[in-house]
Amino acid sequence: MTMNTYTLLLTTHVGSAAISITFFIVRGIWALNGSPMLRAKFVRIAPHVIDTILLASAIALAIMIHQYPGTTGWLTVKVVALVCYIGLGMATLKGKTHGVRAAAFAAAVATFAFIVSVALTHNPLGIFSLAG
Ligand code: HEM
Repeated sequence: MTMNTYTLLLTTHVGSAAISITFFIVRGIWALNGSPMLRAKFVRIAPHVIDTILLASAIALAIMIHQYPGTTGWLTVKVVALVCYIGLGMATLKGKTHGVRAAAFAAAVATFAFIVSVALTHNPLGIFSLAG
């Protein structure tokens, strides 16, 4: 089976996104349970590796389709929403109270789903572009 570069990058991008959210949900549950698993070396390092692959494939895809954040609206929104997702992810893992961690966790998962909807619609409003 052969795959062109674009398909390979897209598969890498979508695949690493799927692994990223799956792993984040597991860590979020551990954070809410106060699990010591969060401190395991693999658990601390793997997300950085996955997210680096996710972002590198995103940049490569943008170059291949000649559309860039700052110029193309839906890509600008993806980057901004990704920064929100990272911030909410940090609050999920490090939030001072259980309430803060739980709220940040729910908001992070919702933000991720919104990013997927922006990707699929190529619209800055994502899922909300379907309303009205
Ligand atoms: C959590 C973060 C992200 C998720 C979940 C995500 C998800 C996705 C998905 C599901 C697709 C496939 C869309 C389709 O097949 O129609 C896609 C494509 C793409 N994403 Fe992302 N993405 C993320 C971050 C980013 C970022 C930060 C950029 C910024 C450059 C980016 C750039 C792209 C590009 C250029 C494509 C290809 C679109 C096309 O050729 O039609 N992604 N993304």
